[in-house]
Amino acid sequence: MLSIFFILNSISVPSFSCPFHQKQSLLHFKSTLTNGNSSSYQFVELKSWNLASDCCSWEHVNCSITGSITELHLDGVVVPPPDIPVFSSILAPLFHIRSLTLLNISNNSLQGEIPGDGLVNLTKLVHLDMKDNYFNGTIPRQLYLLANLRYLDMTNNSLNGTLGSFPNLTTLRLGDNWFHGQIPSKLFELKSLRVLNLSDNNLEGKLGPELGSFRNLTTLSLNNNFFDGGIPSQLFELMSLRFLDLSENTLNGSLSVEVGKLLKLESLNLSANYLFGNIPQEIGNLTNLREFSLQNNNFSGGIPSSIVNLKKLEILDLSINHFSSQIPTSIGTLPNITALVLSKNNFIGPLPSSMKNLSKLELLWLHDNRLNGEIPTWLFKVTTLSSLFIGGSGLIWNNEAKIVPRCSLSSISMYSCNISGHISDWLSTQKDMQFLDLSKNNLEGRFPDFLAEGRLEIINLSENNLSGSIPPRLFENVHILLLDLSQNNFTGELPETIGKATRIKFLYLWGNKFCGNLPRNLTKLVNLKVLDIHANNITGYLHDTLPQIPTLEVLDLSNNSLEGYISNNISNLSSLRILDLSRNSLTRSIPREMGNLSGMIKSPENSPSFPISHSIWFSIFDHVVEDGLISEDLVVNWKKSKQRLASRHLETHISLDLSHNKISGEIPSSMGNLKALKQLDISHNKISGHIPVSFGNLGSIESLDLSHNEISGSIPQSLENLSQITVLDVSNNKLRGKIPDGGQMSHMDDLISFENNSDLCGMQIQVLCPEDIRRLERRDKEDEKQSWFLWEGAWVGFLVGFFSSILIMGHFINFLLFLKNW
Ligand SMILES: *[C@@H]1O[C@H](CO)[C@@H](O)[C@H](O)[C@H]1NC(C)=O
Ligand SMILES: *[C@@H]1O[C@H](CO)[C@@H](O)[C@H](O)[C@H]1NC(C)=O
Ligand SMILES: *[C@@H]1O[C@H](CO)[C@@H](O)[C@H](O)[C@H]1NC(C)=O
Ligand SMILES: *[C@@H]1O[C@H](CO)[C@@H](O)[C@H](O)[C@H]1NC(C)=O
Ligand SMILES: *[C@@H]1O[C@H](CO)[C@@H](O)[C@H](O)[C@H]1NC(C)=O
Ligand SMILES: *[C@@H]1O[C@H](CO)[C@@H](O)[C@H](O)[C@H]1NC(C)=O
Ligand SMILES: *[C@@H]1O[C@H](CO)[C@@H](O)[C@H](O)[C@H]1NC(C)=O
Ligand SMILES: *[C@@H]1O[C@H](CO)[C@@H](O)[C@H](O)[C@H]1NC(C)=O
Ligand SMILES: *[C@@H]1O[C@H](CO)[C@@H](O)[C@H](O)[C@H]1NC(C)=O
Ligand SMILES: *[C@@H]1O[C@H](CO)[C@@H](O)[C@H](O)[C@H]1NC(C)=O
Ligand SMILES: *[C@@H]1O[C@H](CO)[C@@H](O)[C@H](O)[C@H]1NC(C)=O
Ligand SMILES: *[C@@H]1O[C@H](CO)[C@@H](O)[C@H](O)[C@H]1NC(C)=O
Repeated sequence: MLSIFFILNSISVPSFSCPFHQKQSLLHFKSTLTNGNSSSYQFVELKSWNLASDCCSWEHVNCSITGSITELHLDGVVVPPPDIPVFSSILAPLFHIRSLTLLNISNNSLQGEIPGDGLVNLTKLVHLDMKDNYFNGTIPRQLYLLANLRYLDMTNNSLNGTLGSFPNLTTLRLGDNWFHGQIPSKLFELKSLRVLNLSDNNLEGKLGPELGSFRNLTTLSLNNNFFDGGIPSQLFELMSLRFLDLSENTLNGSLSVEVGKLLKLESLNLSANYLFGNIPQEIGNLTNLREFSLQNNNFSGGIPSSIVNLKKLEILDLSINHFSSQIPTSIGTLPNITALVLSKNNFIGPLPSSMKNLSKLELLWLHDNRLNGEIPTWLFKVTTLSSLFIGGSGLIWNNEAKIVPRCSLSSISMYSCNISGHISDWLSTQKDMQFLDLSKNNLEGRFPDFLAEGRLEIINLSENNLSGSIPPRLFENVHILLLDLSQNNFTGELPETIGKATRIKFLYLWGNKFCGNLPRNLTKLVNLKVLDIHANNITGYLHDTLPQIPTLEVLDLSNNSLEGYISNNISNLSSLRILDLSRNSLTRSIPREMGNLSGMIKSPENSPSFPISHSIWFSIFDHVVEDGLISEDLVVNWKKSKQRLASRHLETHISLDLSHNKISGEIPSSMGNLKALKQLDISHNKISGHIPVSFGNLGSIESLDLSHNEISGSIPQSLENLSQITVLDVSNNKLRGKIPDGGQMSHMDDLISFENNSDLCGMQIQVLCPEDIRRLERRDKEDEKQSWFLWEGAWVGFLVGFFSSILIMGHFINFLLFLKNW
C-alpha cells in the first residue's frame, strides 16, 4: 500500500507541477520588475514566486489538471512610485505561456501601446482583462484574431481610434477611453454579446436599429458619449436587458411606451439628455426596476400611477425636468425607496402623508419646486434620513417640526422655509453635519458653538438675523470649504484663527457689522478663491492688510472703512478677476503694478470656476461637487448615490472697481494691459492727468466709468478701438476737445455721460468741434451740393441738440459762435 502510494505520488507530482519553461517565464517577468532599470518597482506580493517551488502553487497562478499554467491573476501587482513609468514591454515573458486562458493584468499602471504581437500568440485566451492601465494607441488588429476570446475588458485606458469587431465575445468593456466615430457595423455581428460597455468615450451618431441584434444583451452602457437622435424601438426588443444606461448623451425624442417590454430591467438611466414628453404608464411593467433616473431632461406631466407596481424601486431621480403634478400618494407604497430626488421641477401640492411609510429613506431632495403646505412633522422622525434638501420647495416650517435627536442628518438644505427661533434650539441635536444650508430664514441667536466643533464643510446661514461674533474655534475646523454668513447681524472682529481653515475656498461675510482690521492670517488661506466682506465696517490700512493669496479670484472689500492705499504688491494676486475696493477711504495713486494682474489680462478659456451670484446657492453647491472637492458620499453621506446637480453656466465677469475713494494721481498707462477686463470703474475719486492712450487696448471692456474725477486733456482717439463698449461715463471731469466718433464710440451718445467737463465737443453731444466747423467751411467752398447732403443730418441733429445742449451742457457760447460762423 505504502509503496504504491509513493509510486503514485512520484508519478503524479512531476506531472502536476508546471512546465519548467513556464516557470522561467514567470521568474523572468518578476526579475524585469525587480532588477534592471526598474529596480524601484515594488510588488504587492510575489514572495511565493521562487525557483524551488512548483509554480502551480504560486499566488496569482492557476494551472490545468495537466499542470500547465492557465490563469494569471496579476491585477494590481505592479505598484510603481509616482512618476516612474512602467512600459507594457515588461509583459513580454508572459507571451511564452501559450496555455493561458485567462490573463488579468488590470490596474498595473502600464504605459505604451497594447503588445498585439505578443498577445496574438496566446491563442487559447478566453478572458483578457487590461482595465485601469495607461495603454494608449489603438486596439491592435491582432487582438481581433483571438478566436476563443469571450471576455475583453479595456476600461479606463487611453485608447483611441475607431472600433473593430471581435468574434464570439460575450463581454466587451471599453469604457473610459478616447474612442471616437460611430459604433462600427461589424460590432453588431457579435450576436452572443451579453455585456457591452462603451461609456465615457467620444462616440457619436445615432443609435441605429442594429442595436436590436444583440438579442442576449443584459447590460448596455453607452453613457457619456455624443450619441444623438432618438432611442430606436429595436432597443426595446432586447428582452434580456437588466441594465440600460444612455445617460449624458444628446438624445432627444420621447420615451416610448415600448419600454414596458423590458420586463427584466433593473436599472434604467436616461439622465442628462434632451428627452421630453410624459413617462408612459407602461413603466409600471418593469417590476424589477431598482434604479430609475430621468434627471436633467425635458420631461413633463406627472408621475404615472402605475409606479405603484415598482415595489423594488430604491432610487427614483426625476430632478431637473418640467414635471408639474402632485407627488402621488402611491410613492409611499414603495417600501425600498432609499433615494427620492424630485428637485428642480414644478411639483405642486403638499407632501403625501403616505411618505411617512418610506422606512428606508436616506436621501430626500425636493428643493426648488412649487409644493405647498407645512413641512410635515413626521419628516424629522424618519431616522434613516441622512440628506434632506427641501429648500425653496415651497414647504414652510411650522413651529412644531423639530428634528428628533435620533436623527443624524449629514446634509440639510432648508433655505426659504420660514424657519424662525434660535438656531441652537433648532439644530442642537445635529452634530454630524457636513452640509448645512439654512439661508433665507428668520433664525436668531449666536453662531452655535457645537457647529464649530463638527465636521461641517459647507455652511450657508446667509440672510437670517444671526448676531454676536464668530467663535474663533470655528476656523479651527479644518474641514470647511465654504462659509456664507452674509446678510446677518454679526459683529466683532474677524478672528486671527481664520488662517487655520486652510481648506476654505469660498468665504462670504458681507452685509454684517464686522469691524476691526482684516486679519493678517487671511494670507494663510492658500486655497481661497472668493473673499467677500463688502458692506461691513472693516478698518485699518489696506496696504498693511491686503491678503496675499495667489489663488484668489474674487476680492470684494467695498463699502467698508479701509484707509491707506493700494500697494504695488497687488499684482501678487495673480488669479484675481474681480476686484472691488469701492466706497472706502483709500488715498494715493493707482500703482503701475495694477496693470500686471494676470487674471485680468487673459480671458479665461472656459467659464470661471467660481460662483458669482451668491444668491444662486445651488450653483455654488454644484460647483463644489463638480470640482471634485467633495466626493458625492461626503456631501450626502450616502453610499449608493451618484447624484449631481448640473452646474449652471456662469457668465464671465472680469471687473475692477475702485470708485468712491480718495484716490489721486494719474491713471497708470499700464492699465491698458488689462485686455480681459469687462468693467472698469474709477469714478468718484480725485484722479487727475489724462486718459491713457493705452485704454484703447482694453479690448473686452463693456463699461468704463471715469466720472467725477479731475481728469483733463482730451478723450484719446484710441477709444474707437473698444468694440465691446456699451457704457462710457466721463462726466464731471476737466476734459476738452473732440469726442472720438469712430467705431462703437459713435453710439456713446448719452449726454449725461459727458456733462460737466471743460470743453468737449462732438456729434455725440451735438456740439460741433472747431475743426469740424473749419472742415465744413472748406467743404462749403469746394462743393456746395455735397456739403449740403453731408450736413443735412447734422442740421436736424443740431436742432434737436440745440436746446438740450443749452439746457444740459451749458455750451451756449459755443453755439452762438457756431451759429454766427455758419
Ligand atoms: C534599460 O533602459 C535602456 C534605455 O533607457 C534600454 O535600452 C534597456 O533595454 C533597458 N533595460 C532593461 C533591462 O529594461
Ligand atoms: C486559482 O488559484 C487560487 C489560489 O491561488 C484559487 O483560490 C482559485 O480558486 C483558483 N481558481 C481556479 C479557477 O482554479
Ligand atoms: C509569437 O509566436 C511566433 C511564432 O511562434 C514567434 O515567432 C514570435 O516571436 C512570438 N511573439 C512573441 C512576442 O512572443
Ligand atoms: C503611448 O505612450 C508612450 C509613452 O507612454 C508614447 O511614447 C507613445 O508615443 C504613445 N503612443 C501613442 C500612439 O500615443
Ligand atoms: C490617438 O491619439 C494620438 C495621441 O493623442 C494621436 O497622435 C493619434 O492620431 C490618435 N489616433 C487616432 C486614430 O485618433
Ligand atoms: C466563433 O466565431 C466564428 C465566426 O466569427 C464562428 O465560425 C465560430 O464557430 C465561433 N466559435 C465559437 C466557439 O463559437
Ligand atoms: C442567447 O442565449 C441563449 C440562452 O443562453 C443561447 O441558447 C443562445 O445561443 C444565445 N444566442 C446567441 C446569439 O449567443
Ligand atoms: C405592459 O403594460 C401594459 C399596460 O400597462 C400591458 O397592456 C402590456 O401587456 C404590458 N406589456 C408587457 C410586455 O407585459
Ligand atoms: C427590499 O429590500 C430588501 C433588502 O434588500 C429585500 O430583501 C426585499 O426583497 C426588497 N423588497 C422588495 C419588494 O423587493
Ligand atoms: C442687530 O444687533 C443690534 C445689537 O447688536 C440690535 O440693536 C439690532 O436691532 C440688530 N438688528 C437686526 C436687524 O436684527
Ligand atoms: C496666526 O498665524 C500664526 C502662524 O500660523 C499663528 O502662530 C497664530 O497663532 C495665528 N493667530 C491666531 C490668533 O490664531
Ligand atoms: C465703524 O467703526 C469705527 C471705529 O471702529 C466707528 O467709529 C464707526 O462708528 C463705525 N461705523 C459704523 C457705520 O458702524
